[in-house]
Amino acid sequence: MRDQKRVTDYHCHILPGIDDGAETLESALLMARLFLKAGYKEICCTSHLIRGRYEASSAEILDARNQLQAEFNRAKIDIKLLLGREHYLDEFLFDNLKQPLLLEGTNLFLVEIPNLISIELVKEILFKVTCHGYVPLIAHPERCTLLELPTQENNNSRFWNFWSNQKSPIENHQSKMPTNLLTYLQDIGCQFQGNLGSFHGFYGKNIQKKAKSFEQASIYTHLGTDAHNPDHLKQILNIT
Ligand SMILES: [Fe+2]
Repeated sequence: MRDQKRVTDYHCHILPGIDDGAETLESALLMARLFLKAGYKEICCTSHLIRGRYEASSAEILDARNQLQAEFNRAKIDIKLLLGREHYLDEFLFDNLKQPLLLEGTNLFLVEIPNLISIELVKEILFKVTCHGYVPLIAHPERCTLLELPTQENNNSRFWNFWSNQKSPIENHQSKMPTNLLTYLQDIGCQFQGNLGSFHGFYGKNIQKKAKSFEQASIYTHLGTDAHNPDHLKQILNIT
């Protein structure tokens, strides 16, 4: 998957002044020129949405996207900016399910799973996201300590799926049958976005190893830079 030519970045913090991503318009334009050099055509603007930290409204994101797109057009940067959001999985996520900013043109709901949260809560919340008709796209699963490839010991999902076909989805969900979290998320239809930097050690050797094992197991459905600034992006894309 990494060998294929990439034209869309599914995860990027390029909108200036919204979160901990690009700080200024100049910085966002520098990032855009790097994307252009690497052959990208579309960037999903996935600013963080975290209660108490990064709380820009959807209207503000739309406005920031439109302004940056106008700057791209002025500067003759032929890249399309798509709307999106990186949702933080916590108990406040339910408030964002009425009119979420999905990745533009899709029903993908990009969501980051923190390390310090119970597995049962992750299952409950993401199941509810699917009940709203959205497909959770799990951001950088290789960076989440709760997500591991299934082993015989931690996964009985295949037997469970056969048995649970006789029950309603709610009954299934309410069950406490032990199942590997990654397998559970696959079973309810989640997709998975890998960070390009993970594959060459940007987040350390352990995450690099995990990303490669996920890749080998065909876990990833999407890839993204998760870039926050030009220096970050240069390293991730390995360009100057
Ligand atoms: Fe991110």
